[in-house]
Amino acid sequence: MQVLRKAFTQQLDEIVTAFVNSVDADQSLIEVDIKGSIAHATMLTKQGLLTEPQGENIVAGLNQILQEYEDGKFTLDACFEDVHMNVEKRLQALIGEDALRLHTARSRNDQVALDLRLFVLHQVELHKEQIKVLQGALAKCALANLDAVMPGYTHLQRAQPILFAHALHAFMEMFKRDGERFADLGKRASVSPLGAGAQAGSGLNIDPHFSAELLGLNSCFANSIDAVSDRDFVAEYLFAAALTSTHLSQMAETFIIWATREFGFIAFSDAVTTSSSLMPQKKNPDPVEIVRGKAGVMLGELVSVLATLKGLPLGYNRDLQESKPPAIKVAKELSNCLAVMTVALQNLTVNGENTMKAAADPEMITTDLVEYLVNRGTPFRQAP
Ligand code: ARG
Repeated sequence: MQVLRKAFTQQLDEIVTAFVNSVDADQSLIEVDIKGSIAHATMLTKQGLLTEPQGENIVAGLNQILQEYEDGKFTLDACFEDVHMNVEKRLQALIGEDALRLHTARSRNDQVALDLRLFVLHQVELHKEQIKVLQGALAKCALANLDAVMPGYTHLQRAQPILFAHALHAFMEMFKRDGERFADLGKRASVSPLGAGAQAGSGLNIDPHFSAELLGLNSCFANSIDAVSDRDFVAEYLFAAALTSTHLSQMAETFIIWATREFGFIAFSDAVTTSSSLMPQKKNPDPVEIVRGKAGVMLGELVSVLATLKGLPLGYNRDLQESKPPAIKVAKELSNCLAVMTVALQNLTVNGENTMKAAADPEMITTDLVEYLVNRGTPFRQAP
């Protein structure tokens, strides 16, 4: 069974069907898709484009599909192409003819843009929360080791003594900005494209502001062509995620160095280390290394979306379908990395003796001696 083929004389080729469908990625968009349809049906009812009983029937059917999804009973079929057509087909099976009115004044082009915006907005909230938890773990670790003095490094050469807590708080600042970046892009993503239709809006008496309000979004689109054709909010999301993962990677790399026998500043407990298949004495910081590796994966997804967008002519183009898997993949990867680094911090101990021994290197107080002389009137350039 295939959809939307009234004007066609042939069924879609099997290989092509398997190629064009987006049901894998769309698994992650089922809830937001239904939420968007409920808002759309409610708006159509308010505008008199659906009767009250039709609107109620549609909303009840959509809620039932949501329930079926939560119970693991609603799955997407590739022959219906995407989540939108799967939901519509299921609705038709559940409520009959009224389902045929849901797509009034709507296109899958504004629908998919909405789904992805709602998905990104949800992830933004989750990431902001997880970043706060990570910062809590950083603050706790810094506080528990307030008296630990260690060398600070420039060029990975010993520079000046610092507190271990000072170093951890540097990462706190990075993650604070990452959280702010997510919040900031969230404001721009919070725009409803519903009502933009395929690209030129609708001739019917719709109220896009009302559907935006129902969805809790800040505003509705200003230009219908832009609303369906840009995915800059995905690129921004992927950039914020790539930068957060870069900070996580820098922290991971720093910890990996500090945990070597050569440095011996910190150790990870057995809960966050793995062993070698050949050398049973080894305790390796694999989880933290994988966090470092994942930054490359996330950066790649950002580049892939920018590359997809750069060649597109104005208007909806099917290439845009390729912007969904990167957002979905990165959401999961970043969430995992934030969680793992939080656990790593909770399982990190500082070897204060070793950090102090390294910090006591007399070369590192050279700058303090220079400042002593400056305080006594020696010109700075003549002090060293
Ligand atoms: N599956 C499509 C996507 O993910 C939905 C929009 C399809 N629109 C169309 N006119 N073929 O972008």
